[in-house]
Amino acid sequence: MNKMNKMNKQIITPFTVQADERIDYDKIVNQFGSTKISVKLLERFQKIIGKKIHHWLTRNLFFSHRDLNLILDNYEKGKTFYLYTGRGPSSEALHLGHLIPFMMTKWLQEVFNVKLVIQLTDDEKFLWKSGKLVDFQYLARENAKDIIACGFDSENTFIFTDSNYIKELYPNVLKIQKLVNFNQIKGIFGITQSDCIGKISFPAIQAAPSFYDSFPHLFCENTPCLIPCAIDQDPYFRMTRDVAPKLGYIKPAILHSKFFPSLRGIDKKMSSSDLSSSIYLTDTMEMIKKKINKSFSGGKESIEKHREYGADLEIDVPFQYLTFFMEDDDKLEQIRSDYSSGKMLSGEVKKILIDILQKLVLNHQKKREKISDDIINKFFEK
Ligand code: TYM
Repeated sequence: MNKMNKMNKQIITPFTVQADERIDYDKIVNQFGSTKISVKLLERFQKIIGKKIHHWLTRNLFFSHRDLNLILDNYEKGKTFYLYTGRGPSSEALHLGHLIPFMMTKWLQEVFNVKLVIQLTDDEKFLWKSGKLVDFQYLARENAKDIIACGFDSENTFIFTDSNYIKELYPNVLKIQKLVNFNQIKGIFGITQSDCIGKISFPAIQAAPSFYDSFPHLFCENTPCLIPCAIDQDPYFRMTRDVAPKLGYIKPAILHSKFFPSLRGIDKKMSSSDLSSSIYLTDTMEMIKKKINKSFSGGKESIEKHREYGADLEIDVPFQYLTFFMEDDDKLEQIRSDYSSGKMLSGEVKKILIDILQKLVLNHQKKREKISDDIINKFFEK
């Protein structure tokens, strides 16, 4: 095999996340030109907020950024910022991977007490998928229930669908569209000449909420924006950051997470377009158990071999899931040590994970059930 064939090829775009082996995050940072989050930045973060930072930051699961240091500099000087994140409503239920940016956003909103805007791109999903526009408008409202169930503060959170809020976004959409040409869109998003023209112009719609005056009812002065998302969304915001200074705006800052992996292996992200890759927030307790028991394991094929060599934690999906959802650092370290040495078996790790995920999903389902139309309206009408 020649050297080229041995190289781990990977495609990371808002539409495809796929690696030959495991996803190489250093390579993404180099390719995209973002900055890895350093220990020094985390220490500063912790000092500024005066409390323990989120375990997804200390565990390097949110691992890369653009201008997070500037957001902290400003905050230290008493200047505020706003948070912006979103969801493309392609399915009725969110999966566990979608929770990652929303849960981090909720933590950030609580810690900094700042406003948050959430974009539901019903237009994007209508353009990219088959189905009627009303179907995606319906899915957006259903997805909003899952998002609200994450515990956002209705006073400080504005949720909107593009098809409804476009009138307010449109002036900024136009300004952005005038500064980006087709070649750039082709290069950044892989869009081709035979794609419908909606796809060519859509990136400006995801960019517009990064600018404060897309929300005249919320902000009256140039307010910086921080966007938490998985790194697949970065192409949109690279484009946004390019045009921002030309339009007199502050470049939006970005906080990137790694991907919550597919049940089938860590070379893919959990994705709604591959049903067998995901645990959904609508799954029953039995389904969660079955899916985790069948998930890709880094344990050895026989007990004897496992006891001798231990598990490969880097490729073990259940262990990777624990790094996200087991909050207790000491317990996680104990499992890391016992499982990698072979003292602990794959079935034991899976059992611990099943218990954690069943509690998480059940708790979410209970909260979601209570989200009435009146509650949803509080987030949409501002
Ligand atoms: P969507 O609906 O594909 O994903 C919603 C959010 O979830 C993140 N995400 C994941 N995070 C961790 N692990 C995974 N397996 C995983 N799969 C998805 C995405 O990065 C995203 O943050 N076009 C966007 C919607 C959007 C948006 C935004 C997202 C509009 N404006 C601003 C982030 C920030 C979309 O279709 O996301």
